[in-house]
Amino acid sequence: MASQGHPFDSDCITLTRFVLGEQKKCPNATGDLTQLLNSIQTAVKVVSCAVRKAGITKLFGTVGETNVQGEEVKKLDVLANDLFINMLKSSYTTALMVSEENDNVIQVETDKQGKYIVCFDPLDGSSNIDCLVSIGSIFSIFKKEDDSPPSLKDALQPGSKVVAAGYALYGSATMMVLSTGNGVNGFMLDPSIGEFVLTEKDMKIPSRGKIYSINEGYQYIWDDAIKEYVESKKDPARGKPYGARYVGSMVADVHRTIKYGGIFLYPATSASPKGKLRLLYECIPMAYLVTQAGGLAIDGQIPILDVVPENIHQRCPIFLGSKEDVLEVESIIKKHAK
Ligand code: AHM
Ligand code: MG
Repeated sequence: MASQGHPFDSDCITLTRFVLGEQKKCPNATGDLTQLLNSIQTAVKVVSCAVRKAGITKLFGTVGETNVQGEEVKKLDVLANDLFINMLKSSYTTALMVSEENDNVIQVETDKQGKYIVCFDPLDGSSNIDCLVSIGSIFSIFKKEDDSPPSLKDALQPGSKVVAAGYALYGSATMMVLSTGNGVNGFMLDPSIGEFVLTEKDMKIPSRGKIYSINEGYQYIWDDAIKEYVESKKDPARGKPYGARYVGSMVADVHRTIKYGGIFLYPATSASPKGKLRLLYECIPMAYLVTQAGGLAIDGQIPILDVVPENIHQRCPIFLGSKEDVLEVESIIKKHAK
């Protein structure tokens, strides 16, 4: 609590303190996850700082290459990716990594290997970088299941095996939202002390919202179920119309959905039959967080957390948010499937 007479809290709960507290609840914990999350925090703090100064330090623009997804690589993407990889490798907690920016799994030198597998999108929402709209980082953490040398199969785990997941939102402020399987908590970066401080305790998503979030430019290439669902959200004959919000940065759209309720959809289209978003480092971590916050996340048929990955850059349609809103779209999809 802030002491009287000055704005400083002499007992604030930093992200590190919080994670340490969670660790102490597990008698067998080694402290490795705390160390791993500390290394992600460091990467996120530098990315946040770089994002805020990008215009001045000439970090906007591209490096003139395309990534594994065939998209232009931005300078900030490269910096964020290098930070995540270097901080995680040197944390001695990670066996293997998957990044949106790397074609293959990223190996860790044998003497630095730990027991965790980390999948991340170091800077999501790249198209929003140069125009100062919110962007983010997303990560999911799994445990290596056996003692064999780390390999691709270790990274292909379903969301039901997630140990922890989170995102950083570089918005009007920088925030980290994290779950280690015990609910969801949000930590605001206080730039004056360089620490993430607990500001959103036990975040819960409302059971129904008033907002739908989808790229409506693709309306003509959606299937009929999605057309019907979105139409129903706009039709005053079927209740008060929902508001439409779509940032185009998944982290921002999901953060708003957790805070205010509603639904975020990135369905399949005739052009992209599996949607656009990547299972391991976009859909799974967000589905884990939304589920931990009391919401739902499905691929249209089954929970996202039950989808078994077949390759590391696999895409997956996603519908996530308030329980009642997701159930509603699910029932329309089922009706059309008949
Ligand atoms: P990126 O990983 O290349 O940045 O793309 C992912 C982003 C998500 O943040 C966002 O939800 C989606 O792409 C928006 O895609 P679209 O422009 O097709 O609506
Ligand atoms: Mg991305």
